[in-house]
Amino acid sequence: MKIEVSEGEKKNDSQRRILLVPFFEQAPIKDVKVELGKALEEIGFTGKSNDIRIVSMPSIKENFCAVGLGKREKYSIETYRRALSSALREIERTGIQSVIASLPGVDGSDLETFETAYIAETTLYKFSKYKSQNHDTPEIKEILISGKSDLNSALQRGQILGKSTNYARDFANMPPSEGTPSYFEKLARELKNVNISVIEKDKFKELGMGGLEGVSRAAKEPAKLVIMEYKNSSDKPFAIIGKGIIFDSGGISIKPSAGMQEMKFDKCGASAVLGVMKALSEMNAKVNVIGLAPLTENLPGGNAYKPGDILRHYNGKTSEVITTDAEGRLVMADALSYAVDKYSPKAILDISTLTGACVTALGNNIAGLMGNNGELISKMLDVSSKTWEKVWNLPIDDDFREQIKSTVADIKNTGGSQGGAETAGAFLENFIGTTPWLHLDIAGTAWTQEKTAKKEYVGKGATGFGVRLLTEFSIALFN
Ligand code: BES
Ligand code: ZN
Ligand code: ZN
Repeated sequence: MKIEVSEGEKKNDSQRRILLVPFFEQAPIKDVKVELGKALEEIGFTGKSNDIRIVSMPSIKENFCAVGLGKREKYSIETYRRALSSALREIERTGIQSVIASLPGVDGSDLETFETAYIAETTLYKFSKYKSQNHDTPEIKEILISGKSDLNSALQRGQILGKSTNYARDFANMPPSEGTPSYFEKLARELKNVNISVIEKDKFKELGMGGLEGVSRAAKEPAKLVIMEYKNSSDKPFAIIGKGIIFDSGGISIKPSAGMQEMKFDKCGASAVLGVMKALSEMNAKVNVIGLAPLTENLPGGNAYKPGDILRHYNGKTSEVITTDAEGRLVMADALSYAVDKYSPKAILDISTLTGACVTALGNNIAGLMGNNGELISKMLDVSSKTWEKVWNLPIDDDFREQIKSTVADIKNTGGSQGGAETAGAFLENFIGTTPWLHLDIAGTAWTQEKTAKKEYVGKGATGFGVRLLTEFSIALFN
């Protein structure tokens, strides 16, 4: 899809294009063609949010999509994201492939252009690779944003972030037998200006990565720790680590079969990291970021790791396996302590579909945020408030640390159902030493479940949660 800023009258055939025009509720309909104003009045267009009307006017050879933004006092950039997204979906249904978008003119053209490009990319994303026939209406081919050429860099940023989010979604949505560790590696190797190295499964034992070794023991697809380095600053690196469980069956502590297909999304953390690396490199961001993705299936089998096993992690700490379904923290433990040891990062962050408890606590629109550093937490809250990717700070205190003490090892891999998100955080805390650290639990936000409401612009399946957030956060960290 082509997205451009464009000044003045467009030359293309007006019958085949549609003008997207935002309106506030109760504001006089002005600055639009008189004919459109009249037509909107006639059909009772209110400008309320969710009031979206397609108006075809053969008399003046134009098509319009009027989009209500609701009351001006209540307006925020999120209002615009949602309204734009819903409008684009309506337009898609008409089959018209060329859109000329006017901006609301509230938050500054730069921000509005950026959001328009980002939302257009994420809204119109489709995971259609496995559909033999596409019965949908033709896709929107171009969006021209009315404005001056000085908006080009905002547009480009929005488009890169949108496309990188979709890149992450593409891998996250893949069926578990095809979206394998090797396939992830292939995608990572396609990134420009990103240096790739891979620790293969047969090295896990030798390196003392007992978590990765244990969890991947019954995996058929070769497990890997993929490391992606993007260095465009001489500062110490920022390390981001994404949970990449290609499929989480629960292992010997097998999950109930209903809904198990959703556990292909247990690779959304790793997918997000892949998307961040792509975005940073395409933006030529002045940062030094290392992405790590521990990737494996979690399967049962005669050779599988078992409840009762004790694993020794990369930093020497041992963990007792109470359930093989709390596998994410076991592989993250090795990746975290490896990153700390090898790269001495100035800060470290992990992003993981880690606990059902986090979904219970915060639902499907807010990710759990934990950490050991107030400044980093504030920075994350600040960056998050400017994106759609909401986070909420959860505590890790001594009671949670107490819950995961083991009688036979240093810690155990579950502290029971109470405070499940926080005890998982308390577990990971053992593997970062004194490095400033943030943990994001995206179990609720990484994909859309049929039964839960979700933002229009991230549609069905993997949402790409974290790509925009962590890219912006990385840039903020090196500013
Ligand atoms: N991948 C799951 C977490 C998950 C559950 C994500 C539901 C999204 C939706 C994780 O590996 C897991 O199974 N966690 C267990 C931990 C428990 C056994 C301590 C959980 O949350 O139930
Ligand atoms: Zn699990
Ligand atoms: Zn899992």
